[in-house]
Amino acid sequence: MNNWDNNGKTFVVTGSSSGIGKSCAESLLKSGAKVIGIDVSGSAIDDPSYTHHTASVTDEEEITKITDSIPQIDGLVNAAGIWGSGKPFYELEASEWERPISVNLTGTFTVSKAVSRRMIPSKKGKIVNISCIRSSIFRNNMAGYAASKGGIVSLTSAMALDLAPHGIQVNSVAPGFTYTGMTKASFDNPEVRKQSENLIPAGRLGMPEDIAGVVMFLLSDLSDYMTGTNVYADGGYHIQK
Ligand SMILES: NC(=O)c1ccc[n+]([C@@H]2O[C@H](COP(=O)([O-])OP(=O)(O)OC[C@H]3O[C@@H](n4cnc5c(N)ncnc54)[C@H](O)[C@@H]3O)[C@@H](O)[C@H]2O)c1
Repeated sequence: MNNWDNNGKTFVVTGSSSGIGKSCAESLLKSGAKVIGIDVSGSAIDDPSYTHHTASVTDEEEITKITDSIPQIDGLVNAAGIWGSGKPFYELEASEWERPISVNLTGTFTVSKAVSRRMIPSKKGKIVNISCIRSSIFRNNMAGYAASKGGIVSLTSAMALDLAPHGIQVNSVAPGFTYTGMTKASFDNPEVRKQSENLIPAGRLGMPEDIAGVVMFLLSDLSDYMTGTNVYADGGYHIQK
């Protein structure tokens, strides 16, 4: 058995119907794991080892019901997420501010809480949260989204400390510009795509598989000594001025 063999293991993946979450779920299935997907959209994966729950990460009662029904949970990927309202922060309605905070940040908290309680008795587990380059590098008109992603980086470190004595590692991955359902409309515009590619040292957009590869490492025992870390997967975007 090698480090990438997930036979006999079960992982929960939120946001599993599209983009990064879907790619993480597919990579885990390929590695022999069982995957429990949670998404507000219906299932987009047809695999005998995949079970789908149509639910929102904001619904604590439903999330707890789902996680309590899984016999054993070895790892969790929190990939469900939404973009915010593209306005200056001083024009945001309270509800526009709260949407990305509620789904991205509180959703990550809610699912992690429910899953951690199941992992703690077995004294092992892996949690990977999806943050963003927008947790530390900003543009105008993204206050709610950026705050939710900065919050995820802080939450990751705080969770890592609380869970370290229980043998559970918690890390986050910060993707850069990635071609997914969330960004398709922008990046299908050749001008926007070119402008974005020009900002990326690697010279190309990220694909969901680029992010899933890093997540797979963080879910594996190769990363057992890493916890509380935010790993950039952005083609080098964050290292330039
Ligand atoms: N695409 C990018 O450029 C990029 C960059 C950095 C970070 N991210 C982050 O990656 C994560 C995945 O996004 P993506 O780009 O794959 O987008 P996506 O839209 O392709 O996938 C997001 C999935 O989350 C689901 N979802 C939304 N709200 C939900 C809720 N309340 N409960 C359960 N599921 C819900 C959606 O239905 C969708 O299937 C998000 O957290 C996003 O912020 C994306």
